[in-house]
Amino acid sequence: MTMPYELVVNGVVHPVDAAWLGESLLHVLRERLGLPGAKTGCEQGECGSCSVLLDGVLVCACLVLGAQAQGRDVRTVESLSDGDRLHPVQRAFVESGAVQCGFCTPGLVVATYSLLTRNPEPSDHEVREALSGNICRCTGYGKILEAVQRASIAMYRR
Ligand code: FES
Ligand code: FES
Repeated sequence: MTMPYELVVNGVVHPVDAAWLGESLLHVLRERLGLPGAKTGCEQGECGSCSVLLDGVLVCACLVLGAQAQGRDVRTVESLSDGDRLHPVQRAFVESGAVQCGFCTPGLVVATYSLLTRNPEPSDHEVREALSGNICRCTGYGKILEAVQRASIAMYRR
């Protein structure tokens, strides 16, 4: 069944025309709205590459139907940078060398942003717990943990 609806993504209202109601939010973001920041990995809620914020809560966009996000506030990684100016979390990932192939990075950046807005100075254990739903095949995670602490300093402890 198809039906047009609207989504508010990064503060902008987007019409979603004639979408099949079974399409995931991830598919709608990438294929219909031209927002490819959230990445398509497992499509089973296992890898975290598709992480977005839904009403401020971190979710896997592959597990939410696009139609379910109507009337809610969807934030993607695209909302974090200000034009060419990277968000402190994004900058911290670059400066820490936490980006290799980069496939996991948008999801990790959104998950880190979500963590640091709830908990400005997380412990190492809290960081590991918060990012446990985001899989990276390249970095071995050490640089990612470093990036989170660097972002925390940049955002709150200058
Ligand atoms: S693509 Fe959504 S969790 Fe892997
Ligand atoms: S940098 Fe390649 S999967 Fe994380």
